[in-house]
Amino acid sequence: MEYQFASRTKKVTASEVREILKVVARPEIMSFAGGLPAPELFPVDEVSKQCQAVLEEQGPKALQYATTEGYTPLREWIANRLNTKWGTTAGIENVLIVSGSQSALDMISKLMLDDGDVVWCENPTYLAALTAFRLLGPTFETMPSDDNGVIVEGLEERILQHKPRMVYVIPTFQNPSGRTWSMERRKAFMELMTKYEIMVVEDNAYYELCFDDIEYCSLTKFDTKGLVISVGSFSKVLCPGLRVAWINANPTVIDKLVIIKQSTDLQTATLNQMVVHRFLTHNDFDARVKLICDVYGARRDAMLDELAHSLPEGCTFTRPAGGMFVWVTMPECVNSKSLLDRCLKYNVAVVPGHSFYAVEPKHNTVRLNYSNLPPEKIHFGVSKVCQAIAEEIAEAEA
Ligand SMILES: Cc1ncc(COP(=O)(O)O)c(C=O)c1O
Repeated sequence: MEYQFASRTKKVTASEVREILKVVARPEIMSFAGGLPAPELFPVDEVSKQCQAVLEEQGPKALQYATTEGYTPLREWIANRLNTKWGTTAGIENVLIVSGSQSALDMISKLMLDDGDVVWCENPTYLAALTAFRLLGPTFETMPSDDNGVIVEGLEERILQHKPRMVYVIPTFQNPSGRTWSMERRKAFMELMTKYEIMVVEDNAYYELCFDDIEYCSLTKFDTKGLVISVGSFSKVLCPGLRVAWINANPTVIDKLVIIKQSTDLQTATLNQMVVHRFLTHNDFDARVKLICDVYGARRDAMLDELAHSLPEGCTFTRPAGGMFVWVTMPECVNSKSLLDRCLKYNVAVVPGHSFYAVEPKHNTVRLNYSNLPPEKIHFGVSKVCQAIAEEIAEAEA
């Protein structure tokens, strides 16, 4: 049977990273390839308790259809959190509950993009956002960045030549680079976006996972015109399996997204929203975030220590202040696909970096995840990765 699918499906292929993850799922492989939160930190008993309590308290209501906007007490809790920890001034009219922030990216692309529109993003950036956007047929242009975030100088000239339809950024603990924008860059960037009224999609999947004493906030803090569509998620601070996340935006934008969500999934699971809300109001959420940050922070330290000790000359790596990833750049003679093959022989796995580029992929980069292994394993595994890199360099230079 030769299926006839819509032509837009030709614009996307299976995620190479997901395919790699299937290969590296073998139990003997120590994987730095994935992006999974540590399952030992999932509050299994507490979620079970809250689930039971919600069903007892709410009865059939917890299993019934509900509003597309989301469970009001949860929207209130999120608005309050955003106002106290994210530098925003949100009310519940700004908050739409969604089924994972990935679905938010899909909905936003349907809201914003027509075929041939230009989207600006960082390079590298979150691969699955590119996939969501690609289905709508935009072209991508990238903004230069360094360890302090997107470099704003030079962007105005480009806007004057051709204004992008929207900009997609991950200013805090970026996936895949681990980088965080400075406050100055956030402010300067938003001044420019405001001047030219450009819509900004801010992805905050890792926002709460901060290990160091740094200053940061949501870009919404500097948004005076309702241009920022800010996405957040409980996936990394509670668990991803419940699929509860949110969009924070101007009410006019939210109203449009509600219509799109109605055609996508009607609403996010009622029971899951109630369970998340009861969890949040019956537990010390800050203590939970701190626990995760303490564990991940130690894992980040182990990875950075080992890289500093064992990475061959000519390589560089980022030093994330939070989140789940370190980005390694190797000499140009190293091809990360061939490196992955060599790593697998040592029973370790990395993700080649080229898939994360919207344009002009760099083949001498890899992403390393540290959230999912204890420090001693990270030391051992990263030393093996470094050994494999050294061998690739030696072979390329021979
Ligand atoms: C940058 C970024 N955005 C969004 C997501 C999707 O998260 P979720 O759909 O679980 O909220 C991820 C997942 O890893 C991510 O890394």
